[in-house]
Amino acid sequence: MKALICYFSGTGNTMKVAMRYREILLQNDITVDLVKMEHDTRPEEIDLNTYDIIGFGYPVHAFNAPKIVIDFVKKLNKVACKKSYFIFKTSGEPLSLNNISSLKMKKILSKKNLILTNEYHYCMPYNIIFRHSDFMAYKMWQYAFNLIPIDCKEILENKRVKLKGVFLGGVLAWIFRIEFIAGRIDSKYYKVDDKCVKCMRCVKTCPCNNISVKDGKIVFGKNCIICMRCSFFCPTNAIHIGFLEKWKVNGAYNFEKPTSEQEEKHKKYCKKAYIKYFKRCDEKLLANNIHLEI
Ligand SMILES: Cc1cc2nc3c(=O)[nH]c(=O)nc-3n(C[C@H](O)[C@H](O)[C@H](O)COP(=O)(O)O)c2cc1C
Repeated sequence: MKALICYFSGTGNTMKVAMRYREILLQNDITVDLVKMEHDTRPEEIDLNTYDIIGFGYPVHAFNAPKIVIDFVKKLNKVACKKSYFIFKTSGEPLSLNNISSLKMKKILSKKNLILTNEYHYCMPYNIIFRHSDFMAYKMWQYAFNLIPIDCKEILENKRVKLKGVFLGGVLAWIFRIEFIAGRIDSKYYKVDDKCVKCMRCVKTCPCNNISVKDGKIVFGKNCIICMRCSFFCPTNAIHIGFLEKWKVNGAYNFEKPTSEQEEKHKKYCKKAYIKYFKRCDEKLLANNIHLEI
């Protein structure tokens, strides 16, 4: 069997999840092609007909799939006969509003004979708004890590799993797609300060090829999708992201168990929703005889 996993990841969370899917599928003797949805990928060259399992992964951006993901799926060729596919998404908070994020891509893919059969959502630490504590990042990853083998099993056993719909979800998602133009506007105000050491990491890794050097200065074009990769991974925190500056998170999470107790700064933020999310995860794990000790 052959699987294709196409994913976009701004700051590594969705990539981590995609890699775990790959690992589990490989353990099931399935070969896996991983495709990053970035500016240099050619979706029109992918032959979906040759795959038995197809998955798409993305981080939720303003209750939608990021624009780069929508543009990617639009360019995919239609498959000859109906085929099923699955979606995995990561997001900073567990609100069910995140479920509406796949509506647009589902519509596009159904026109290409692709039918969604399984959909999974994993909470992963925020790369915008605020920095989750190391403990929360560790906890979120432990849950995702242990759930993915179960979710893979469901996919392989053709057990359909869908996320709950949201009343007027399509309209809400459409409104929030204002985010698609927000990056074009906000990037006009991006600046690099004198902490910049010209390592060129932002230039080399921008998924939209939107950052360049002009007259020795780092400049930002109009194709920003606000994925946060440049400012998140900037080693000297030299990038200022316009109107979103107060929401900037700088520095990768390490996902290890912290050795000392830490104060959870945002312990009230979506508290009930996180409790519900972890409870739901525990129930699924327990149903599969896994007791997670965090
Ligand atoms: C522009 C932007 C919008 C976001 N919108 C949402 C959102 O609507 N809901 C949510 O729970 N998380 C949201 N997030 C958080 C990310 O979905 C989350 O941190 C994700 O795991 C990042 O994945 P990545 O590292 O693969 O990019 C947003 C992040 C960004 C950068």
